[in-house]
Amino acid sequence: MAELKAPVEPYRIKAIEPIRSTTRKEREALLRQAGFNVFGLPAEKVMIDLLTDSGTSAMSDDQWAGIMTGDESYAGAKNFYHLEDAVRAIFGFTHVVPTHQGRAAERVLFGSMVKKGDLVPSNIHFDTTRANIEVLGAEAVDLVRPAAYDPDADLLFKGDLDVARLKKFIEAKGAKRIPLVMTTVTNNSGGGQPVSLKNLKETSQVCAHYEIPFFLDACRFAENAFFIKRRENGYARKSVLEVAQEMFSYADGATMSGKKDALVNIGGFVTFDDDGLAEKVKNLLIISEGFPTYGGLAGRDLEAMARGLNEALDEEYLEHRTAQVAYLGGLLDRAGIPVFKPFGGHAVYLLADRFLPHIPRAQYPGWALTVALYREFGIRAVEIGGVMFGRKTGKGKKEVYPELELVRLAIPRRVYTASHLQVVADALIELFRNRDKIRGLRIVRESPFLRHFTARLEEI
Ligand SMILES: Cc1ncc(COP(=O)(O)O)c(C=O)c1O
Repeated sequence: MAELKAPVEPYRIKAIEPIRSTTRKEREALLRQAGFNVFGLPAEKVMIDLLTDSGTSAMSDDQWAGIMTGDESYAGAKNFYHLEDAVRAIFGFTHVVPTHQGRAAERVLFGSMVKKGDLVPSNIHFDTTRANIEVLGAEAVDLVRPAAYDPDADLLFKGDLDVARLKKFIEAKGAKRIPLVMTTVTNNSGGGQPVSLKNLKETSQVCAHYEIPFFLDACRFAENAFFIKRRENGYARKSVLEVAQEMFSYADGATMSGKKDALVNIGGFVTFDDDGLAEKVKNLLIISEGFPTYGGLAGRDLEAMARGLNEALDEEYLEHRTAQVAYLGGLLDRAGIPVFKPFGGHAVYLLADRFLPHIPRAQYPGWALTVALYREFGIRAVEIGGVMFGRKTGKGKKEVYPELELVRLAIPRRVYTASHLQVVADALIELFRNRDKIRGLRIVRESPFLRHFTARLEEI
């Protein structure tokens, strides 16, 4: 097998943040204090942090320079107009409403469009869109193509929504109950998989036929556009910006967490054309986020986001970003470690139940893997499996587990180098060799909602 080539970082490092090492003994004590929950660890005690790619990006010198141009006027700060210009140029919609992050954009949008008893289909809803729909008494429905749940199905656009199912769904439930349809690009909950332009176009045609607005959850729009350029027939010669513009041309609007593809540590927005909707959204925004030209952000944050949106479309950056994910995934795959395929845009997902076949689902193999990875190597990852999505149902309160038991290694943008990724791969290869020593866990304390953030566990 030819050696996997390490991707060369398309940037030089101007400011650094030291990584402090810890001993195994220290990490063992920290895990006990945290109730064997990696969310409870102090970040300073983590060597390589792959918990999330959200809000963890390194900003560029140009973004930091922009921070100093922050206009902190209450209303009409110049940085808002810069953001408006950047969003209009890429997304193409007239109204741009900033929010402090993605879930706030979702809340003001759904709060203006969705009512009790409604249904909101998507390919797969992210947790926050699901929660913001369900809190209104409506239902979030996942209509992704079925192969999205097969970790071995090597498809180019595994995030595509099943358009035939969407049509049937609308016919069966009635368009009146469906205030909007969404598509998440890339599909985070389904392995960060891209959605094709063909699929976006077909979804928009169905929505237009039934007069249902179509919105994108656009957190990772640039990564999605890059995959389209690389994989979809007829787009190789287009710029990523042109592809992104075409993606948004099929939609009526978008919600955005700037913490991903706007390369900032905080920020988001919602954007669309409908004037009536803008009035409702801005009224809701004023109650919770603030005046519509700052929406919960400082002027400096708006500037960093405006600049970051354009940087995220840089093709050398995107080439490197996706190559980092493929490099880490490739190193693991070649060593026989079970991984979700193909590799997506922002993370590598380990198939924890295949990694640890001796640990039953009731003892949370994904969680056990995150504990072992931190204990032995100081690396933090996140379980996306039985603890995060297990549900107790029925009289006996039997726990039902999600289809996939995953551990996500999310790669922060512009933060780690190829040698960090090599360290992560070496650690996992070593762990895989000694996997029979890893033990399962039981939950000893949990909260009724989103239990993975605060649960305490013990080893069996
Ligand atoms: C697909 C998707 N939508 C929405 C969000 C919510 O964004 P935020 O964390 O900024 O509220 C996230 C965050 O991880 C996401 O991945």
